[in-house]
Amino acid sequence: MEIPKESTTNNLQPTTMKKLIVFNWKSNPHNAASAIKLAQLVEKSIPKKNAPEVVIAPPFIFLEDVGKIIKKAELGSQDAFWGDVGSYTGEISWHQEKHLKVKYVIVGHSERRKYLGETDEMINKKIKAALKAGLKVILCVGENLSIRRRGKKTVEDFIKSQLSKDLKGLSIVKGQMSNVIIAYEPIWAIGAGHSDTPQDAVEMIKFIKKTLNSIFYILNSRVLYGGSIDGKNIKNFIQYKEIDGFLVGNASLKQKEFDRIIKA
Ligand code: PGA
Repeated sequence: MEIPKESTTNNLQPTTMKKLIVFNWKSNPHNAASAIKLAQLVEKSIPKKNAPEVVIAPPFIFLEDVGKIIKKAELGSQDAFWGDVGSYTGEISWHQEKHLKVKYVIVGHSERRKYLGETDEMINKKIKAALKAGLKVILCVGENLSIRRRGKKTVEDFIKSQLSKDLKGLSIVKGQMSNVIIAYEPIWAIGAGHSDTPQDAVEMIKFIKKTLNSIFYILNSRVLYGGSIDGKNIKNFIQYKEIDGFLVGNASLKQKEFDRIIKA
């Protein structure tokens, strides 16, 4: 099913799917009772009609509790190890996550790359294992400030290199790529209280879609933006059809903020 590059690159289509909002709770909250409360509030915020797709990604330890509560939202995890159950001390396997009804897994978040030394090779293995298990993958890519300061071309080269290494060996023919969602998260905007400009974010998202098209011949990959999205600035981003959704950290812990994001 090879499609010639020339026939596709000029025809990139925005996806017609609903916006996808992924709430990344990171290492929050303190205990199960607070996690349950938070999940209940998110559920309450999701309207019955015309709702976006909402994914809650709590820490592993709360997956089961949150999974039992949510009905409108889907369950996501913040990572999944590439091995099945076995001798992998401290790791959580996709097998265990599937058992808890996890549907989405975030892979390659910049905080894991930075604090845990996750490499592109490790990320690639995790993506392959998660896809094989039938999970949808949300792959995070994004440049740091020093790369950003070197200009657009350097940023594009960096993102392209992350995409090619992290997605190495995946095939559209096997249907794998339809379960891969990219989150563009400029590292300098994460938890910073100031997002990228919507225009710059859209430019990068278009670049990512084009890159995926040239590597995998995909016409309508889903690409999210992440980095200090909140209840206020969401309205500046939501109007762009190229942005297929949002990966939200801090604001996903505050009712007023996530309520506005979902309603936007
Ligand atoms: P933030 O985090 O919304 O707090 O910037 C986003 C993320 O890290 O996914």
